[in-house]
Amino acid sequence: MRYVRATAEDQARIQDFLSQFVDDYLAEHIAAYFSSDSGGVYMALDEENQLLATGIVELARPQEVYVSGMRIRPDLQGGRLGQEFAEFQVQEGKRLGASVIRSLVGRGNEFSQRILQETLGFHVVDEWVVGSFEGFEAPAFAEGDAGPAWAVDQERLRAFVKQHEDDLWSGKDHWLPRRLTFEDVWQGVEVGAAAVAPQNIGDPVDTLALFRITDGDMHLNYLRSMGQHLKTLLQYLRVESRAWGVKTLHFGLPRHAADKFIEAADLPLAREWHGVVLEKHVGLTSSSVV
Ligand SMILES: CC(C)(COP(=O)(O)OP(=O)(O)OC[C@H]1O[C@@H](n2cnc3c(N)ncnc32)[C@H](O)[C@@H]1OP(=O)(O)O)[C@@H](O)C(=O)NCCC(=O)NCCS
Repeated sequence: MRYVRATAEDQARIQDFLSQFVDDYLAEHIAAYFSSDSGGVYMALDEENQLLATGIVELARPQEVYVSGMRIRPDLQGGRLGQEFAEFQVQEGKRLGASVIRSLVGRGNEFSQRILQETLGFHVVDEWVVGSFEGFEAPAFAEGDAGPAWAVDQERLRAFVKQHEDDLWSGKDHWLPRRLTFEDVWQGVEVGAAAVAPQNIGDPVDTLALFRITDGDMHLNYLRSMGQHLKTLLQYLRVESRAWGVKTLHFGLPRHAADKFIEAADLPLAREWHGVVLEKHVGLTSSSVV
């Protein structure tokens, strides 16, 4: 058996392979990984070039690798291939320069969690929720003290991010949790995709959100609220969604933020997926050499 990094030519074959896994988000989602500069989709092939398994190794940012999407051909499951493939994903992650490797496993997927935790030494760092709301419509006009974050907010935003430096967010992909940095927030400010409350720069930040609007949908990628201004900020997101004619809001958030958001939004969830974020520090530290 050998592991091969897939190219765009392999996409159809892999989509066909994935079609045998029921209710699997990956089939509609994997296309994005064929255009990665490094890492991406990998295949396990036997001597006859038969496709035995697939998996993803994504360089989320320098030194931060994300492994996911492991799919073992159903007739081969329970035969240790999953464990071997996960070991390959970790080695490939290290080859790509990782100092931390993260993975997302669906709630109740004990086999995957067992491979990552018991065999490869990952540990759970957070719970994760991916979901969508229908009917995220805007009020006629916005009330309250929330709005876009501006350049003048830099210092209080920096203080807020420092206070929550272990926070995870879902950059361009709700299924890919990564550590939030001040640079991520500043990029959001520069493109008008960061919302903050209260607006008065003399007040500390209470609530911060990073979002983007693509193809008529709003995507909430980061949310942290100290509780006072969450509803006000949601009101502002609704105004933004009205401005862009948004009907559906999607999110990928840590459980603590998702629970607060779902409660405050008070709307039916069209889709809800729960899982855990597992993490492993790799590199030349005595305690965690693989
Ligand atoms: C989950 C999955 C990747 C595991 O790979 P696998 O090759 O089947 O698993 P392995 O043979 O390496 O076994 C891993 C562990 O799970 C256990 N296991 C796996 N399948 C099992 C089964 N059907 N019954 C009982 N135990 C099972 C093994 O005993 C092993 O535990 P151990 O190390 O304590 O002995 C594979 O089953 C799969 O592709 N499932 C469908 C898609 C999916 O859920 N992917 C993961 C998304 S995060």
